[in-house]
Amino acid sequence: MSDTAAQTLELGLGPTGRPLPEFPEPPALDGHGPARVISMVNQKGGVGKTTSVISLGAALAEIGRRVLLVDLDPQGALSAGTGINPYDLDVTVYNLLMERDHDVREVIQETRTENLDVLPANIDLSAAEVTLVNEVAREMALARVLRPVMDDYDVIIIDCQPSLGLLTINALAASHGVIIPLEAEYFALRGVALLVETIEKVQDRINPALEIDGILITMFDQRTLHAREVCARVVEAFPDVVFHTTINRTVKFPDASVAAEPITSFASNTKGADAYRQLARELIARGGAA
Ligand SMILES: Nc1ncnc2c1ncn2[C@@H]1O[C@H](COP(=O)(O)OP(=O)(O)OP(=O)(O)O)[C@@H](O)[C@H]1O
Ligand SMILES: [Mg+2]
Repeated sequence: MSDTAAQTLELGLGPTGRPLPEFPEPPALDGHGPARVISMVNQKGGVGKTTSVISLGAALAEIGRRVLLVDLDPQGALSAGTGINPYDLDVTVYNLLMERDHDVREVIQETRTENLDVLPANIDLSAAEVTLVNEVAREMALARVLRPVMDDYDVIIIDCQPSLGLLTINALAASHGVIIPLEAEYFALRGVALLVETIEKVQDRINPALEIDGILITMFDQRTLHAREVCARVVEAFPDVVFHTTINRTVKFPDASVAAEPITSFASNTKGADAYRQLARELIARGGAA
């Protein structure tokens, strides 16, 4: 056993180097809604945003929360990852953003997972950045789209594309909280300052109630000194913001997206599934979800 691993055991420290609290199973809810809206944002690509939206959403659904996942990425990875064929769709979140003659409930799709619905997107959404620019209250289009279903859900999680463009601003404007997934690798912190600045601008100008719910370390390989050092630096930079829960790197996640199923059902008894279950409990313990 390495010195660090021995020390961790001795002190009861969690993977982020801090004492690990217990996150109890939250009580069942009496009723549903109104929803707390959370954006999963990082302008860096491939850090685990979509995977975290699906996996956290499924973990919350598993404990009886009614969850809506919103695909706000023209790549449609969230839609595809939950079993929806993005090319089969006539009406998507794009039409809801741009046109007023649609009912959001008719666009929302159920998934095979109980309590887990999706508002899908496809490549049509790539036009939105350009066309929204000329709209009145262009930052508020998504908030308007979601308003009619706020009471139907306990949590709404928005999957953002890797950019800080107008779609991501719409997500932040519609949200109560932000989760920032960070890959545990050397350049992870690059760009976080810009992201935090963007969040602060949205707080100042459009949505004063917006909070950062937490930074989530993803694709963590605890066996490497490098990953542990990156993790320590992130905790040093954002002491209380980093979730105690971390997500390890495992091939089960790409396998689950190929199977178009959340990790909690695709590989239910794995550490990866349990990590997102713990994240769901930690988020609730922090007040980030009901
Ligand atoms: N914990 C993990 N371990 C291993 N692979 C992972 C993990 N999380 C995600 N992946 C894989 O890494 C790739 C990128 O993940 P994902 O699509 O969730 O990132 P993203 O931030 O949404 O990317 P983009 O910015 O392109 O939207 C995917 O192939 C996914 O299956
Ligand atoms: Mg994605």
